[in-house]
Amino acid sequence: MKNEMHVEFSSVSENEAFARVTVGSFVAQLDPTMDELTEIKTVVSEAVTNAIIHGYNNEPGHYVSITCTLDEDAVELTIKDEGIGINNVDEARQPLYTSKPELERSGMGFTIIENFMDNLEIISLPESGTTVHMKKQLSKKTVSK
Ligand SMILES: Nc1ncnc2c1ncn2[C@@H]1O[C@H](COP(=O)(O)OP(=O)(O)OP(=O)(O)O)[C@@H](O)[C@H]1O
Ligand SMILES: [Mg+2]
Repeated sequence: MKNEMHVEFSSVSENEAFARVTVGSFVAQLDPTMDELTEIKTVVSEAVTNAIIHGYNNEPGHYVSITCTLDEDAVELTIKDEGIGINNVDEARQPLYTSKPELERSGMGFTIIENFMDNLEIISLPESGTTVHMKKQLSKKTVSK
């Protein structure tokens, strides 16, 4: 059975925890392992933080959206902003690359996402925003309902 949820929220850092918990509760119905759940919540935090601090330069008054689709034991996540976009996606994906070293970012967000998910796709256009699309196959088989 396919199941989907969509949420949209203001670009304020308080909503990072909201996003983690919301996606975590939705994915819980697939009965993930504790590690899988932690990994999914971590990638949500990374992508939402990126949308807020990079996409929107920490300005409130914009929106971040999340779509999460569950299909059998697979989780698909799309996290989207309409912020400044990324000039060079290949460079941004490199471990340790950060455009904000002054904020003590470590440049590891996309690397963490790549490690925790099976697939990471970044679609970004300067001045029109960034869409981060991720997929993960869960190990545990659940009884179909
Ligand atoms: N949503 C986004 N909008 C605009 N630029 C982005 C976005 N997400 C990432 N970037 C760019 O990609 C770079 C790499 O992102 P990544 O998450 O790997 O590192 P970081 O956010 O700089 O540091 P860390 O995640 O370790 O705190 C960022 O420094 C930023 O330049
Ligand atoms: Mg980051």
